[in-house]
Amino acid sequence: MERLEVQTESGFYPILAAEGALALPAVRRELRERLADRDCFVITDDTVGPLYLAPLVRVVKEVGARSCATTAFPAGEASKTLATLGDLCRRAVENGLDRQALFIALGGGVVGDLTGFAAATYMRGVAYIQVPTTLLAMVDSSVGGKTAVDLPEGKNLVGAFHQPELVLAQLNWLRTLPPRQVRCGVAEVIKYGVILDPEFFAYLEASMPELLVLDATVCRQVVLQSCRLKAQVVAQDENESKGIREILNFGHTFGHAVEALGGYSTVTHGEAVAVGMLMAAGLSERLGLAPEGTAARLEALIRAAGLPVRAQPPGATPDAILEGMSRDKKVKHGQLRLVLVRDIGVAQVVECNDRELLLEVIGRYCGQP
Ligand SMILES: NC(=O)c1ccc[n+]([C@@H]2O[C@H](COP(=O)([O-])OP(=O)(O)OC[C@H]3O[C@@H](n4cnc5c(N)ncnc54)[C@H](O)[C@@H]3O)[C@@H](O)[C@H]2O)c1
Ligand SMILES: [Zn+2]
Repeated sequence: MERLEVQTESGFYPILAAEGALALPAVRRELRERLADRDCFVITDDTVGPLYLAPLVRVVKEVGARSCATTAFPAGEASKTLATLGDLCRRAVENGLDRQALFIALGGGVVGDLTGFAAATYMRGVAYIQVPTTLLAMVDSSVGGKTAVDLPEGKNLVGAFHQPELVLAQLNWLRTLPPRQVRCGVAEVIKYGVILDPEFFAYLEASMPELLVLDATVCRQVVLQSCRLKAQVVAQDENESKGIREILNFGHTFGHAVEALGGYSTVTHGEAVAVGMLMAAGLSERLGLAPEGTAARLEALIRAAGLPVRAQPPGATPDAILEGMSRDKKVKHGQLRLVLVRDIGVAQVVECNDRELLLEVIGRYCGQP
């Protein structure tokens, strides 16, 4: 089994990813090092819980945890609130957990973000590990230490940076994930190729059908390479203070606006990011930054992934999308900063306030293809 490491200011933490990971002696060893004689608290949601809580708890006990409390909240983004955070912390108190406790996030990005934030704040901070069960969580949200909850005013508005002690991806657990959720993760995977790694992009072009059916070899390659790329960026800019981590927002400024216009329900995050990436690539070409054909190549891969290539929620007009982008929390001093590409595999941050040009490019990717 390959073992990746993420470097942070406070040291390293490993990412372990394999089919049947929990049964591997090497994984058991890593778990025993962190769980033995500790009080553990596994947090999950009510979709993942019935599927994977029992096998995980069994392993937690087998590697020598002193105790293992569990809790599950209703699945979905609607649970990513301060109210759920309060419930989790109260459950922790009820279970007598102190500062030496270890929280374990078992689930997708919602469980991971909530558990991470609970761990960042419970008793002023306890350790936690991530056991991601969606492709998006395996390749993105479980790595990097960003944790948060939503407010009615917007997503991820209250949060903290808090790195996990370990990320453990049991790849075969992806098999129960609905295909639309798989594609959501694939959008982020494509993003890493576009901004950081042309060879990885070409690999995705060659292996998309296998990835979509979660072929074991391709899936493992993709999860590991995505984590490797994200870890490299995070290591250089752990707290997003140096502008390096900004490139991970490729497609997201456009995408968030599309996602919001769909009311966070009709369009998934990955679907919105897919269209957002195309808008960013289209703009890169239009500005003469990227060679002609860059956006077309990306569009072909996005189509192959079964992701949308046009913004289609009702009301997703170029004006409405641009309006939404200007409200994005990443706008600095009224300047729209966009992650664009110089080529497949090379990102560049550009400030662009040419309204007419933006509307023209966005318009190309709205409506029926
Ligand atoms: N912290 C970060 O850096 C970061 C990065 C990207 C996204 N996020 C956050 O991640 C969240 C989205 O994550 P997500 O897409 O994983 O959503 P999610 O956690 O809501 O999971 C999607 C759905 O799949 C179900 N599910 C999870 N694993 C399953 C499995 N193996 N089999 C069957 N069903 C399963 C869940 O119960 C849920 O209903 C958002 O809140 C977003 O803000 C955070
Ligand atoms: Zn994203």
